[in-house]
Amino acid sequence: MDDHIRFDHQTLELHLLDQRFLPEQESDFVCRTAQDVISALQTMVVRGAPAIGVTAAWGCVLALKEAQGPDWAARLELGMERIAAARPTAVNLRWGVDRMRNKWRSFGGAKIDQPALLTAFIHEAQSMQNEDVAICKALGRHGATCINDGDCVLTHCNAGALATAGYGTALGVIRAAAESGKKISVIADETRPFLQGARLTAWELARDGIPVTVACDNACALLMSKGLVQRVVVGADRIAANGDTANKIGTFGVALLARHFHIPFYVAAPLSTIDAATPDGSGIPIEQRPDREVTHVGETRLCPKDVPVFNYAFDVTPAEYLSGIITEKGVLLPPYGLSIWAALNDLSTGRSAGIAGAEPENGGSDAAPGRS
Ligand code: MRU
Repeated sequence: MDDHIRFDHQTLELHLLDQRFLPEQESDFVCRTAQDVISALQTMVVRGAPAIGVTAAWGCVLALKEAQGPDWAARLELGMERIAAARPTAVNLRWGVDRMRNKWRSFGGAKIDQPALLTAFIHEAQSMQNEDVAICKALGRHGATCINDGDCVLTHCNAGALATAGYGTALGVIRAAAESGKKISVIADETRPFLQGARLTAWELARDGIPVTVACDNACALLMSKGLVQRVVVGADRIAANGDTANKIGTFGVALLARHFHIPFYVAAPLSTIDAATPDGSGIPIEQRPDREVTHVGETRLCPKDVPVFNYAFDVTPAEYLSGIITEKGVLLPPYGLSIWAALNDLSTGRSAGIAGAEPENGGSDAAPGRS
């Protein structure tokens, strides 16, 4: 699936498959203004780090369309900044806006006229969307080497086509493994409170014919203790320079359990999810979302009125719990400070930089880690 983020070039409207209503209903949320895009991001019409980066880029197109008058450049800047601030944790959101801003700057800022900039913005946003699918496919190919024939892979939240421009990160790895002929199955954690696993991951995999079973988040220890899980692959919303990884709330607990049961635990993410300016996980802002996501399912109240709840949307898994970070450049290995730096600086010279699957220095094979 790669048409869930669709820009209509005739009407200059952004159509987003409304993920709040899946799997029951497939309907579009149409964004005509930058504020519509901000609402879509904040209410989770569209979610998942790479998907919100691409959506943010289209949001910049709409912000430009609306910016009128002699101070259009200042208005555009304000609109772009508001989009970048719509959600705090996934670094791809700011990355998407920054890339559009850099495109603008490459024309000398306000010196370019608006119609020409609009054409350039549309081209840039479309390129980002196309690139994201290609990146997910490259990442999937690298990650597939970490999965064995017959494995059952547990994943948390939804890091699938819906969370990207298409194909997915964690689900991209699973898709690529299945496409390479490996017989694999998936356990999708339901992922309270927004249920991205039960609603979205299960929907995507079932459509692809990949066997998937949904489990309550709190079943993870039992399933692992029964030997039902051979690999864990999750996505990421922000990876610090040392490899500490923010992902959907509950991911850290899964990583702790995987360590206990000696199960390889991989993070799959594009390089755009790495935040080299944040040294470690303590600097990653954790979004707190509305209480209602926890207190209610649909219109049904689960908790007594006025009882406070925690609704932290993400947690941070320390780098020491990761078996590898699967990227489009290869599988980054510990020490992550070095392999992340090498990948970001395009120094992917194989094992000496700690990147399995990268171009090997000596022309030899460079198998992925965690295989047994
Ligand atoms: O709040 P969400 O649904 O935007 O959070 C998304 C996640 O945390 C996903 O797990 C995902 O790994 C990141 S996007 C591929």
